[in-house]
Amino acid sequence: MNATPQEMPRRRQARTAGPSGNYWYAVELERNLKPGEVRKVRFWKQDIALYRTADGSLHAVEDRCAHRQLALSKGFVEDGNLVCSYHGWKFDGCGRCVEISHELGSGRSQLPKIRLRHYPVQVRWGFIWLFPGDPELADSVSLPHIPQLECAEPWPFFPIDVTIKAHFSMIVENVCDFNHEYLHRHKRPFVKPTLRDWKREGDAIRVYYDTRFNEGAVAKLFMEKGARDLKDIEIWYDYPYQGSDIGGKYIHWLFMLPEDERTTRCFFVFLFGPIHIPLVNWKMPEVLRKPILWITNKAYIEPLLAEDQWALELEQEGFERHPDSAQIELNPAIRHFQKLTLEKWEEYSNPLAAEAG
Ligand code: FES
Ligand SMILES: [Fe+2]
Repeated sequence: MNATPQEMPRRRQARTAGPSGNYWYAVELERNLKPGEVRKVRFWKQDIALYRTADGSLHAVEDRCAHRQLALSKGFVEDGNLVCSYHGWKFDGCGRCVEISHELGSGRSQLPKIRLRHYPVQVRWGFIWLFPGDPELADSVSLPHIPQLECAEPWPFFPIDVTIKAHFSMIVENVCDFNHEYLHRHKRPFVKPTLRDWKREGDAIRVYYDTRFNEGAVAKLFMEKGARDLKDIEIWYDYPYQGSDIGGKYIHWLFMLPEDERTTRCFFVFLFGPIHIPLVNWKMPEVLRKPILWITNKAYIEPLLAEDQWALELEQEGFERHPDSAQIELNPAIRHFQKLTLEKWEEYSNPLAAEAG
């Protein structure tokens, strides 16, 4: 007899759990969707056609034509509507069929009463955010709070957009757990990280490590002397977002878009406070800050993330080959990440059971 989901080992449950839809998810870089363009994005096995009208407004509807289920993302944008490429049925941003122009449709007094699912969207920090869950809740749910981007002079950054063929719970465990420093042994961004503490606060788990930056070339070149000495790091899984902070000067955020059980699109934001001019230790002029951040991403951060991607995709394959093998886990925080993922999925997918439990 097959095990029910509740009887599976927690690792297996976590590796198949979905994300709660009642949060805002970054689904696309704003610059990737010009006026008049449509793109497919995916949230947990649901395809969504995201489009921008000529006046710049954004809409998101289920990616299927109500006529014969062709993907609307293969259609085009016209007069603020999305047009299916097959018979030309037109849908507005609320998913209503507003025009059938072919011979059997044009004379009709009434159009079919169709309402495709549509989703709230908004733009912030260069990302398009979508609320896949209960639309009634969208206005009451906030985006993550990022003081460095909400101030008068937001810190510049270049988003990194990478799709990893792994379940999102694995990615959380990778970025929150410094015990995989061995993987980065040739780059060694941090020296001897030691888990100091961890705690759960509401729907967030915070983990603290003692460590310090490696005195490598990148650090020596661009970090202020004091900043190089920072030695503790806080990492969080503040559901459904992940991030870290080193002394308020080096911050990262990861906005995950779980597409399915083995695919997660990841939008990374790396925020670097002071950058100094080598040798003289002067603050870098703003005009040079952006090119340096871009070079740092390309030369250092992206290759580092490529190592994580390599390991995570192998871990996913390993899980699929051995789904019921026991998890031997040394980091006490990991099971709490998994517990949080499962709780939020239960709460979203089975609210009555979650309340009763
Ligand atoms: S399938 Fe879309 S209009 Fe016919
Ligand atoms: Fe890593």
